[in-house]
Amino acid sequence: MTEVFFFIGKGGVGKTTLSSALSFYLAEQGNPTLLVSLDPAHNLFDFFDLEPVKGPFRIKEDLWILEIDEEEQIRDALKEVTERMKQTYRHLQILNLEGMFDVLKYSPGMLEHALLVALDETLRQWKGRVRYFVVDTPPTGLAMRLFGLPRVSMLWLKKLRELRRKILKRRDEITSVRGKSYLGEDVSTEEDEDPVMLELLSQYEVAEEMDSLLRDRNRSRKSLVVNHEELSMREAIMIAEEFRTLGLGIDLVVYNKAAAGVPRQDIHTRLRDLTEEAEHLELPHFGNMESLRARLSQVGGTLAEKLLRDGIQH
Ligand SMILES: Nc1ncnc2c1ncn2[C@@H]1O[C@H](COP(=O)(O)OP(=O)(O)OP(=O)(O)O)[C@@H](O)[C@H]1O
Ligand SMILES: [Mg+2]
Repeated sequence: MTEVFFFIGKGGVGKTTLSSALSFYLAEQGNPTLLVSLDPAHNLFDFFDLEPVKGPFRIKEDLWILEIDEEEQIRDALKEVTERMKQTYRHLQILNLEGMFDVLKYSPGMLEHALLVALDETLRQWKGRVRYFVVDTPPTGLAMRLFGLPRVSMLWLKKLRELRRKILKRRDEITSVRGKSYLGEDVSTEEDEDPVMLELLSQYEVAEEMDSLLRDRNRSRKSLVVNHEELSMREAIMIAEEFRTLGLGIDLVVYNKAAAGVPRQDIHTRLRDLTEEAEHLELPHFGNMESLRARLSQVGGTLAEKLLRDGIQH
């Protein structure tokens, strides 16, 4: 059962427009739908000509929009980690983690980690309430790191769990010779009691769930949006190549604003070759924002027709 639709592509190609159109149509068909923006430069509310509000907002029957506040996500994630570290490593108070807060938020990978956790939490929280999720993704660089992160995290966490297992084994050896109280009463030697091991396991489960969601075509579908213009095509080629490397498939390539230009044949062919297994769809330039909004349901219907194939009910 398809649950989540992602729209990826270069800045300005139409990701927000198309994700809005698809969600609008799905909701109109009576499917409760949540449209989520992971793009730090949010513009979902602008698209629907609404004043932005924090948190989920119901814009019509069966349709909610949510712009993930990445600053808040990072703050929350850091707060949680520092709290837990303080509890687990009481003797390390000297580290003064709070003092490093403002610097830690700029750590490499922090933004994508926070966005991924936010997406995971949103999907869990809304699972029973909506039938579909549509995700408007950030610019290419960040989006690719986001899609690659679950696998990378899984690798790291696996290694860290092995390391922790060794530490627990050593502890066990020591306490079996010296007695249980030798290392202190609250120092665990069992995997299912050790807070660090439990934390690593819970992080691993989040990464694994996201990875399996991204890989399973029956649960998620990814649309690559491109314009008939050389730079967006080149970026789409780069995305398609990266997706291959990550072992992820592209389900649909949308050639949006078709009349806006004629693509160079060799670039066009390269993109076609790389996305052979995907569906392809051409959408014309619909004129200004007003005529675009007026056609939202029609555009969404065209997208749904391609994306909900293979007998998937909607
Ligand atoms: N088929 C279309 N016909 C006419 N205008 C379009 C079409 N698709 C998108 N647009 C317009 O192109 C501009 C960019 O679209 P949109 O904001 O959806 O792109 P985006 O990929 O989300 O951009 P960003 O990366 O900046 O978030 C908008 O002004 C939108 O109204
Ligand atoms: Mg956008």
